[in-house]
Amino acid sequence: MANGKVYLIGAGPGDVELLTLKAVRALAAADVVLLDDLVNREVLQFVDPAARVIEVGKRGGCRSTPQAFIERQMIRFAAAGKVVARVKGGDPFMFGRGGEEVAALRRAGATVDVINGITSGIGAPAALGIPVTHRDLCHGVTFLTGHTRDDTEPDWAALARSGTTLVIYMGMANLASIVAGLLRGGLRAATPAAVVQNGTLPSQRSVVSTLADVADAVAQAGLGSPAIVVIGEVAALADVQQLEPALAAVA
Ligand SMILES: C[S@@+](CC[C@H](N)C(=O)[O-])C[C@H]1O[C@@H](n2cnc3c(N)ncnc32)[C@H](O)[C@@H]1O
Repeated sequence: MANGKVYLIGAGPGDVELLTLKAVRALAAADVVLLDDLVNREVLQFVDPAARVIEVGKRGGCRSTPQAFIERQMIRFAAAGKVVARVKGGDPFMFGRGGEEVAALRRAGATVDVINGITSGIGAPAALGIPVTHRDLCHGVTFLTGHTRDDTEPDWAALARSGTTLVIYMGMANLASIVAGLLRGGLRAATPAAVVQNGTLPSQRSVVSTLADVADAVAQAGLGSPAIVVIGEVAALADVQQLEPALAAVA
């Protein structure tokens, strides 16, 4: 393999100012930039105008499966000696297929550096003033996906018992069944719950409710993906000052 290199970059939840300095430096060094759907296009201000920018999200229109296509592109450019910036939303190793991509690149003999980003599961709640851990309110935090590859369900009772904040990615389509599972598992109906769509962006919208009512509140407010669902006592710490403009936008 020639001296090419791949930077697997997390762009954070949306607000371009949440990029790391390391990400900005790697973007400036890149010959080729591969951009995922959820990445704020404002990151392009840090890219050399001579660099090639390729949209590789699911709406990118490639014929083969997107993942295999993206991996082939990265390997091809790195083998040609190019510096490749593969930019993903949030953190590349948090529900971002970063592990699969690093493995594919290593198998092909490419050099790869991972540059962490702020994951939306922490950044979106924080935009409402919600800390995902709080020593008076929980024992920790559990990050989970609401959309598994094989439709298997988590152990709801274990999650309900865990005493941790539950932060759910990709949970909007299955929100009602997630809520039903947690209630069945023994989590209190009055447990605070918050949902943040487009967290950290000007289009951010949110609701704060309870486990029992959150699915209705989301439907009423018309919230959709991409959104983070936070379930646990910390959700009650949402800053009403920050929430009100979001609710006003809904009304
Ligand atoms: C495929 S996962 C990628 C997660 C990403 N790697 C991360 O660390 O945030 C996509 C999911 O992330 C969440 N997400 C991404 N950006 C978001 C944002 N700005 N606000 C709320 N949720 C977001 C949503 O749950 C969305 O369905």
